[in-house]
Amino acid sequence: MKKIVILTGAGVSKESGLDTFRDANGIWSKYSMDEVCSPLGFQKNPQKVHEFYNRLRTDLPSVKPNNAHIALAELEKAIECKKIKAEFLLVTQNIDDLHEKAGSHNVIHMHGELNKVYCTACYLKTEWHTPCFVDTVCPQCGKTQLRPDIVWFGEMPYFMDEIQQALKSCTLFIAVGTSGVVYPAAGFVNLVPKHARTVELNLEASLGTSRFNESYFGPATLLVPEFVNKILRDE
Ligand code: APR
Repeated sequence: MKKIVILTGAGVSKESGLDTFRDANGIWSKYSMDEVCSPLGFQKNPQKVHEFYNRLRTDLPSVKPNNAHIALAELEKAIECKKIKAEFLLVTQNIDDLHEKAGSHNVIHMHGELNKVYCTACYLKTEWHTPCFVDTVCPQCGKTQLRPDIVWFGEMPYFMDEIQQALKSCTLFIAVGTSGVVYPAAGFVNLVPKHARTVELNLEASLGTSRFNESYFGPATLLVPEFVNKILRDE
């Protein structure tokens, strides 16, 4: 039985018009990671952090998935309706909802989601599609201690047990559109069994390229549909 694990990064959403983090003019060339993507940054200036994520969140409804997202959703569907015998797990580092908009429904957001907030008083985690501020009231406990449901630097990514479990028995690991800079995601390729096939689909060589058996360079909207078709043709 094929056991497929796919890891996506910001590069998979680039052709939908969303900035990556580390490309030229990427998000980290405009904002300080420490100020908007760390617990200390939130402690120091929560309003600034809310404004950063509010901007990203309010842009999201008009952003459409691209052919890479769509191809991954088609692969999941083909496996679900048993067109091919395989197990499938899609792990994304992205906080956008483009995989879901493309039709993927079994998506693990290891760095959290823009369309969710959680309350640090009562720990309610809830869908949120509008701006959130320091004085926004938690719908459950009424306190004003909501934060973006994003995993910041120094915090533990979500679903790590499930991800590591899947990696341990994976036969095909594919990384799409990620720079291989941020752990633990950058180390996932090292956690798969020796005989597993490891493939990188990226615009250019990433920091982790040498860790993959195969690397294909180009835009995700070309590489991913092509590679999904190969899997569907069992090549
Ligand atoms: N098609 C495929 N790959 C692309 C494309 C494209 N059209 N455009 C850019 N890329 C590649 C870049 O070459 C780069 O290797 O996508 C990668 C994006 O890298 P990053 O910007 O570092 O994004 P990512 O790897 O997802 O960052 C990981 O870092 O800041 C944190 O939490 C944040 O989840 C993020 C994590």
